[in-house]
Amino acid sequence: MRSYAKSIALYERTRKHLAGGVSSNVRYASVPVPLFFARGEGARLHDVDGNVHIDYVLGNGPAILGHAPKPVIEAVARSLADGQVYAAQNPREAELGERLCRLLPGAEVVRFATSGTEAVLMAMRLARAFTGRDKILKFEGHYHGWSDQAYISAGPSLNEAGPADEPVPVAGSPGIPASVLDDVVVAGWNDLAALEAAFDRHAGEIAGVIMEPVMVNGGAALPEPGYLAGVRDFCRAKGALFICDEVITGFRVGLTGAQGRFGVTADLAIYAKAVAAGFPLAMVAGRRDVMDTLADKGVMHGGTYNGNVQSMAAALAALDELERDDGAVYRDLERRGARLMQGIAALGEKHRLAMRVQGLPAIFQVFFTDGPAPKNYRDAVSCDRDKVAAFHAALQEEGIRINRVGKWFLSTAHDDAIVDETLAATDRAMAALR
Ligand SMILES: Cc1ncc(COP(=O)(O)O)c(C=O)c1O
Repeated sequence: MRSYAKSIALYERTRKHLAGGVSSNVRYASVPVPLFFARGEGARLHDVDGNVHIDYVLGNGPAILGHAPKPVIEAVARSLADGQVYAAQNPREAELGERLCRLLPGAEVVRFATSGTEAVLMAMRLARAFTGRDKILKFEGHYHGWSDQAYISAGPSLNEAGPADEPVPVAGSPGIPASVLDDVVVAGWNDLAALEAAFDRHAGEIAGVIMEPVMVNGGAALPEPGYLAGVRDFCRAKGALFICDEVITGFRVGLTGAQGRFGVTADLAIYAKAVAAGFPLAMVAGRRDVMDTLADKGVMHGGTYNGNVQSMAAALAALDELERDDGAVYRDLERRGARLMQGIAALGEKHRLAMRVQGLPAIFQVFFTDGPAPKNYRDAVSCDRDKVAAFHAALQEEGIRINRVGKWFLSTAHDDAIVDETLAATDRAMAALR
């Protein structure tokens, strides 16, 4: 058995001075306690007890180039002496903005922010200001950050969530005012008829439709063929903005995100995480006429750390790596991720485990179920969650760190040897699980 004595002691210590002992509630999803890591390098993390983990959590997405990627940390180190924040613009913002607008689908202009949560808030405010309507439609099981307006029905219990064809908006946390729910409409994802019905119930009131274009948080489910284009066309017909939350998919499922991969362009898109390879950066990208309301109509967006020197330097260096040879790193990422997904599925068969592996090579999820792979949130939560937690624990014992709900993020540092090592460890973990 691996020992976590030092993590346990540090957790006891932090509980005295950090509320709840952590800096994000998401970190409770760890056994035996929220773990403490001393160092990350490439695909591996070293915890304070000296255990080495091949890391498939990657900060929940940002570390697309692995931990401490040299070109990025060197660029950031070079930028440190320039200062950090000026309460003014810096030239790196101009360069990054130009490059992003050249690259990203539908990005006529961008606006930088610091976290995904804030960028989502900006996009929702823009949609409201631009259309003059108040309601935002979101989908059950889609996570768009922890703000009052977005943390609704991100992971509701099915007891509270109402009927599948007309879900009830469920506040995800105590402290979210009930009044917020009046301006949020929730629909089931991957179902155009459900979207149309929700619009009928709120005719003329919906400012924008926000979604994860691949439902990563709710189950790594892919959009059904034609679904994204159907939503875009429907929004256009109804005068609502189509907002793609690419916080996870951006710079992960390809250089041009899910929109590029599936050939659909949103009115607004939100990026964060992988764009700066581990440094804090988020942004909204999209239509000039919508985004220009920030300047022309006084739509407020602020933030002390927006466009800070180090995040700009990190993103520019990360883009150098990701764009090289027309995105060659993504071809390797796809090949290795596909091999890993297939290898895990084959091991599941070998060990006679009723399981499914679904998603895309750079972000996928393992489900324990006799049924088909989940297409939406309700399918996903009906799978065996105790079994996946046991799988997570068994893998950790073998030196493989995945997300507690069975999610795997891949980085360019996970080379073929690491994939082989992972599959051998997974074989042992599944044997232990059985
Ligand atoms: C799809 C999506 N949107 C928004 C967010 C919020 O981003 P942040 O944690 O940077 O506030 C997340 C975070 O995991 C996310 O997965």
